[in-house]
Amino acid sequence: MAMPVYRRRSVGAPVVNRTFRPSGALCYHARIMSLLDPLFRQHLDRLDRRHTRRTLLPVRPEGAGRIRRGGRTLLNFSSNDYLGLASHPLLVERAGDWTRRWGAGATASRLVCGTLELHEEVEAKLARLKGTEAALLFNSGWQANAAVLPALFDRELLGVEALVFTDRLNHASLHHGCAAAGVRQIRFRHNDLDHLETLLAQRAGEPGARFIVTESVFSMDGDRADVPALAALAERHGAFLFLDEAHATGVLGPRGMGLAALGGGRVDLAMGTFSKALGGFGAYVAGSRALCDYLVNRCGGLIYATALPPAVLGAMDAALDLVPALDAERARLQAMAERLRTALHGLGVATAGSSTQIVPAITGAEEDALALGRRLEERGILGIAIRPPTVPPGTSRLRFALSAAHTDADLETLVSAVADAWRPR
Ligand SMILES: Cc1ncc(COP(=O)(O)O)c(C=O)c1O
Repeated sequence: MAMPVYRRRSVGAPVVNRTFRPSGALCYHARIMSLLDPLFRQHLDRLDRRHTRRTLLPVRPEGAGRIRRGGRTLLNFSSNDYLGLASHPLLVERAGDWTRRWGAGATASRLVCGTLELHEEVEAKLARLKGTEAALLFNSGWQANAAVLPALFDRELLGVEALVFTDRLNHASLHHGCAAAGVRQIRFRHNDLDHLETLLAQRAGEPGARFIVTESVFSMDGDRADVPALAALAERHGAFLFLDEAHATGVLGPRGMGLAALGGGRVDLAMGTFSKALGGFGAYVAGSRALCDYLVNRCGGLIYATALPPAVLGAMDAALDLVPALDAERARLQAMAERLRTALHGLGVATAGSSTQIVPAITGAEEDALALGRRLEERGILGIAIRPPTVPPGTSRLRFALSAAHTDADLETLVSAVADAWRPR
């Protein structure tokens, strides 16, 4: 097939604007079309027609559970700040303190001169809390998943192909990691361990190292994997168990350290983030010392990226000091989620399999999710519509995420607003 030839629209010479910065300094900038602008526009038009176009919306945080947008303060039921730690004074203070003492940047990758003593202190604290031999920090959850999976599925390491069993609703970053590794995913129905066992059994005679890759709490449905059963299954089939704890860390499990602890030592790798309940930024892998040492040598996303800066490490360190003692907040969070589910069910609103602080209100059609979001915003609530491809077609939703910082009155405001704004088809 002949490659199409794209030509820049004839606009003559690039337009050069002369503008003055407020400082008075003269600056020149060229305004030219990108070669692919016609294709970008076509693509965006297609998304508009399907009600799936995404746009960035600027907001200003107004303390935990509240946000300012378009000149109004809204109750925020869309953030992942499940414990309200993003604005906690201890995190803010330590981020600032560590910056003042050690600077704004780590200046290099972990393997060059970017491993500060602070990285190792945070990793040791985390490993102690997770009950693992070791832990390794990553710059984000996305980056960890995208980079760790290819390192694990490496043929040179395994000597054979990897057979990778994945939950159908796994997060995009897990799909990306599998794609980057060039492996074909063997997908099991969401949280259906019988189906997973059948697929494992079907391939019992095939060579290849087995991996099960799943989440302990699913980001869009708010349901949980049965970690003890998964661990037993992995044991029976000699499979490596990779558990993404992004939405469980801080919220579930002993001392809020996630559900991997329920796996009886059979979770090979627990990955989690500091960007959600832990209020800051960055991610971790927790597991054996050999696993972490291997990743230091083989994981491109760690080797070829500048290390996390002191501010981020300070917030991480403070969150790890606070989180183990927040059992009362965790219990309140789950009680609020139960109250919300009961209210939504009373209105005839489906909440998927939610059993956590993430409670989706399923509308089905994309435009219905957008319209419900707009009506809630008129009533002072921020509830963002989640649409394909983030969720499967026909399951668009508002994803309500609760925070321990919400008051009972906030929750009742949400419930009344949904009761008022919900329009059944
Ligand atoms: C299950 C899951 N894993 C990984 C990530 C990525 O984490 P981060 O936001 O720290 O990049 C997310 C983010 O939403 C997630 O939901």
